[in-house]
Amino acid sequence: MSLKSQSEHPEVSLDSLGDWRAERGCGTLRADAIGTELTLTGWVDVRRDHGGIVFIDLRDRTGILQLVFDPDQSPEAHRRAHALRSEYVIAVRGRIAKRPPETLNTSLPTGEVELRVAEMKVLSASRVLPFPLDEEADANEVIRLRHRYLDLRRPRLARNLQSRHAATRAIRGFLDGEGFIEVETPILTRSTPEGARDYLVPSRVNPGHVYALPQSPQIFKQILMVAGFERYYQVVRCFRDEDLRADRQPEFTQIDIEMSFVGVDDVIRVTEGLLVAGARAIGAPEPKPPFPRMSYEEATHRFGTDRPDTRFGLELVELSDLMANANARVLAEVVAKGGIVGGIVAEEGHRFSRRELDELVAWAQSIGAQGLAWIRSTEEGWQSPLAKFFGDGEREKIEERSGLRKGGVLFLVAGQRKHAQSILGQLRLRLGHMLGLIPKDQWNYLWVTDFPLVEYSQEHKRFVAVHHPFTSPRDADLELLRSDPEKVLANAYDVVLNGTELGGGSIRIHRPDVQARVFEALGLDEGEMRSQFGFLLDALSYGAPPHGGIALGLDRLCMLWLGESSIRDVIAFPKTQKAHDPMSDAPSRPTPEQLREVGIRFLDPPPAKPATTKT
Ligand code: AMO
Repeated sequence: MSLKSQSEHPEVSLDSLGDWRAERGCGTLRADAIGTELTLTGWVDVRRDHGGIVFIDLRDRTGILQLVFDPDQSPEAHRRAHALRSEYVIAVRGRIAKRPPETLNTSLPTGEVELRVAEMKVLSASRVLPFPLDEEADANEVIRLRHRYLDLRRPRLARNLQSRHAATRAIRGFLDGEGFIEVETPILTRSTPEGARDYLVPSRVNPGHVYALPQSPQIFKQILMVAGFERYYQVVRCFRDEDLRADRQPEFTQIDIEMSFVGVDDVIRVTEGLLVAGARAIGAPEPKPPFPRMSYEEATHRFGTDRPDTRFGLELVELSDLMANANARVLAEVVAKGGIVGGIVAEEGHRFSRRELDELVAWAQSIGAQGLAWIRSTEEGWQSPLAKFFGDGEREKIEERSGLRKGGVLFLVAGQRKHAQSILGQLRLRLGHMLGLIPKDQWNYLWVTDFPLVEYSQEHKRFVAVHHPFTSPRDADLELLRSDPEKVLANAYDVVLNGTELGGGSIRIHRPDVQARVFEALGLDEGEMRSQFGFLLDALSYGAPPHGGIALGLDRLCMLWLGESSIRDVIAFPKTQKAHDPMSDAPSRPTPEQLREVGIRFLDPPPAKPATTKT
């Protein structure tokens, strides 16, 4: 690429800005400005050359204004306007005039007026764009990310970042008003156990040692409570090396909060106030506290997930007892082995074709289900691969329990409780989408509470924390920590909006003896405890106040509030699914010199390039 843009555009001579300072934003001009002489600056959005007169839509960050170059009024400016192309940067001087009635544009805020150009400067030229900037054009996202500066010129993305700023500012203001102070915590730090892999940074001055980028400032904010700050917050970047999805990025921003001398209700009250302030500032419908609360147990039983989308029904039903003695051996055997048979009734199930049902079965298997059985209730009775296994009496009981009526389809999943519920939870969402049952303009905020403290991890062959290991168990359950850890409930809460987890937090353990007992339940021995978290245990032993907090995902919040379906659309420079930045081409290969300095050698020769095709 030639950097000498002048020589690529011999048709224009470029000027310097000089004293051509814009006096107004293009998008701010209305009828009351008619007659004013103005200087404006911006980008050529569209050029229309109507033989005689040249029209340019000039765009700056405030919006668009029509410029008129008339050969009779200013021949020199008109002559130069012929050379303008999309995305050239120009400065113009002229007079704001009322548009002739036939060119009024009611869909544009500035559609009543135009600038009649007397003089123009071309400040910068643009090469031909790699993709059109108009909203409708659906260019490949990797190409758009590679040229993110162009993508961000599109009004929707530009507006998203402005709105994000407005929400963040309002949230900061709200927290300031509540007596919180923002404190920065280290980026080069030790591992924080939030459940993802760490990004590691080798230390040159400490050969053989690494820092971890924080998955959250969890331990530091607790230590700030021990230090006596009482009310901390931070708008903070966090880093997690995990598989990416539409609502996940490897680096993302949390609104991180910690408070001393509080219980669950205090944190919930502050969070609800914060969400009202943010939603109001960004222009989303205002949440109405107090939000409903639902226990983890209820959420997983009714919706098959700990972040239920409560905007629609299709709730799960349990049929295990009715299947225990059924002739359908596949189902009965699962119940005999301690599993469950759960179901969902789609009342409008008659709309599914046989092919769609087969596709649903294949889909369920692809997400890990053993199978997906279905029973269609018709005027002629049951249609189902399972129909032959059930007599009239059994059918009646199943219909009564599940609410299956003529025209409906009952879907059944059998398996170990957690697994079956999770499959049914995902099926529920899919059916909700397929049947158009999810209302678009409803905003269901919900607190999910009473999470279990720990769960058994097949992968690690031990108990792991459901939130993180600093979450306090309920006082009443302390004794169960040794005998039956899975029964222990935590003082933890998540806030959910329309099925997306916005944030999570807990009241923490503030006593070192309780913290040590929880570490023990998680299978950490004394040595591991000291080496990983000794500094926290030390801090807790010097007069730690009872404390608790929460962290909200700012990117997710903005995504939902702005009605976007991808988190990337509210982040200035996001990464692809492969954690790759197509613009800067990060991550990149270190030079041999850099590796030598930090004492690192790669095991295998790295592949040529990170994959660049998927977002
Ligand atoms: P948690 O791990 O639940 O809690 O994270 C809090 C919130 O951060 C957002 N989030 C993400 N957003 C985008 N991309 C990601 N990869 C990602 N991971 C998490 C979510 C999530 O709800 N230290 C605790 C909080 C506490 O206990 O106070 C924590 O980090 O919206």
